[in-house]
Amino acid sequence: MKKIKIKWNKKGKRISAAASKKELGFLTYFYPDDTAGKRNVEINYLYVKPAYRRCGIATKLLKFFLDKFKNVTWVSFWTAESSEKDKSYPLYHKLGFKDVYYQPDYYRKGVGTRLFVKRMKNNFSLWIKDQKRPLFLPIENLLKQNFIPF
Ligand SMILES: CC(C)(COP(=O)(O)OP(=O)(O)OC[C@H]1O[C@@H](n2cnc3c(N)ncnc32)[C@H](O)[C@@H]1OP(=O)(O)O)[C@@H](O)C(=O)NCCC(=O)NCCS
Repeated sequence: MKKIKIKWNKKGKRISAAASKKELGFLTYFYPDDTAGKRNVEINYLYVKPAYRRCGIATKLLKFFLDKFKNVTWVSFWTAESSEKDKSYPLYHKLGFKDVYYQPDYYRKGVGTRLFVKRMKNNFSLWIKDQKRPLFLPIENLLKQNFIPF
């Protein structure tokens, strides 16, 4: 296969994989609409054209994405109907995602959706009384001090 080029359209929140200027796959994402702002990011859809599957394109897209978002706290995504059919979960496990929840009958009877998450930063935020901002502490430090987060 020709050399795969990865392009990031920040404005469109879209990462694409192309060879000879032809798009072969893409990944879209968004920030959850909550008060956490841009601390967490969610993958909306990951897609590779059927003729180009199992050549590592989705792996490339995900690795690029994870590298660009290594400073967020969580990356999450719900599997699409198609991935429920073709059982492509090993891809997400290989890249460190954990399968944390299954919602049956989500798309239709018998076809559910699965929540995958990857913790990017092992930091806890601690809001100490009288401080204006939360403190971000590595989990190892907290464990050393026998601190139990709640
Ligand atoms: C899921 C999808 C993005 C995978 O794309 P891809 O480019 O073929 O994935 P990769 O080549 O990077 O696969 C890497 C590994 O993931 C696993 N994997 C990928 N597709 C798989 C499948 N259908 N069944 C089982 N394992 C699969 C394998 O372990 C594979 O490694 P291998 O080929 O050495 O065995 C693609 O099949 C697709 O577009 N599906 C339709 C849309 C979809 O389901 N999107 C995901 C949810 S949003």
